[in-house]
Amino acid sequence: MRIAILGSGGREHALTYAISKSKKTKKIFCIPGNAGTAKIAENLELDINNFNSISEFVEKENIDLVIVGPENPLVNGIVDYLIKKKIMVFGPKKNSAMLEGSKIFTKKICEKYKIPTANFGIFKSKKFAIDFIENSKMPIVVKADVLAAGKGVYICNQKKDAVDAINEIFDGKFGVAKNILIEEFLDGEEMSFFVISDGKDYKCFQTAQDHKRVGEGDTGKNTGGMGAYCPSKLINEKLEKKILEKIIDPTFNALKEIKEEYVGFLYAGLMIKDNEPFLIEYNVRMGDPECQTILPLLETDFLDLILACMNKELKDFKISWKNEKSMCIVLCAQGYPDRYEKNIIIENLPLIRDDESNFLFHAGTKINQNNIYSAGGRVLNFVNISNNFYHSRKNIFKQIKKLDWKKGYFRKDIGHRVIETK
Ligand code: AMP
Ligand code: GLY
Repeated sequence: MRIAILGSGGREHALTYAISKSKKTKKIFCIPGNAGTAKIAENLELDINNFNSISEFVEKENIDLVIVGPENPLVNGIVDYLIKKKIMVFGPKKNSAMLEGSKIFTKKICEKYKIPTANFGIFKSKKFAIDFIENSKMPIVVKADVLAAGKGVYICNQKKDAVDAINEIFDGKFGVAKNILIEEFLDGEEMSFFVISDGKDYKCFQTAQDHKRVGEGDTGKNTGGMGAYCPSKLINEKLEKKILEKIIDPTFNALKEIKEEYVGFLYAGLMIKDNEPFLIEYNVRMGDPECQTILPLLETDFLDLILACMNKELKDFKISWKNEKSMCIVLCAQGYPDRYEKNIIIENLPLIRDDESNFLFHAGTKINQNNIYSAGGRVLNFVNISNNFYHSRKNIFKQIKKLDWKKGYFRKDIGHRVIETK
């Protein structure tokens, strides 16, 4: 089969790697891809939000299947567009993608279907929102109702911060804001919970925990993700049952009621408190860097799995996993998530192991005349699978040391909640 994968991050390199292992795969195009995907696929510089140019390319190249990595084109309706052109595409349609595109859409589903989530209010004006803050307990969470790559969420410890957040959002920091969401702060531990769906049935697709904050001990600014591990230490049979019954099943029922057949990955960002799950948000795609930790554990042919979804045959499809653990550490450009340099040469890449237990997934990288340069804030993802998180972390440290990239930095405490040994 000829397959196109849309996106350019570590998640998309991991998706490309998993697809490349299938015997059915003849050729992969990554749009636009990175220096890592260039080794196993052909990269193509097209704008993934220009649906017409994507569909023209797909038709010209006789591509059989398109897999969409990031949320933006999904929320903008790429799946609807390609389906109209009779192109096979893996990912949810625009109306279903509202689960990620609009936090208020998701909150309304939570309200109607009694899905456990933080108590919330939706406010249409600065005045009502600020009045509400005056009478609320801190901390409190203020959210813009847009896709803002995590930046539209303000965790406020003081009323003044909440008022500033409301002003920023209504003043248009994330585009025109008709509504604002204010919610109760949930205390607990976060977990990423994934399912895959064919429109009729769904199956669980692992759990993970990621480290979003830039600093050790989970402190400092939010980032795209500094590292992750799979599985989450929080998951157990009882909790999984609660998550499915209280959160995932009612969500799929809600989608069915609005005649939406959800095809693709669904990622529930959960807060777990005393073995009870609360939904923080939905994402309509795989997580990044969670995807990089999860896919190396998959034993099943990934392309067969996607095709089972496209044919609505997921119910009888068995998904097998290696009985191991996995960790991903992200090597970033110094300065990220603030200002950082780009175009810095990365030497020594040939020294890095890439075998059955060590994986190197590129994120912000590009090739120029056989040299590899950084092209973003999160640059490389080092993944190791083993039966022990401590060993995985140690192995990754060795790889990063071998790379010896002077302009990079990484968090040395990824997995600190599951690794007790120093
Ligand atoms: P979101 O974009 O909604 O996932 O929010 C980004 C991050 O903000 C989440 O991963 C949480 O760490 C944090 N967060 C969001 N909502 C809440 C909440 N109600 N209580 C505590 N933390 C939250
Ligand atoms: N790991 C967070 C995300 O993908 O949104």
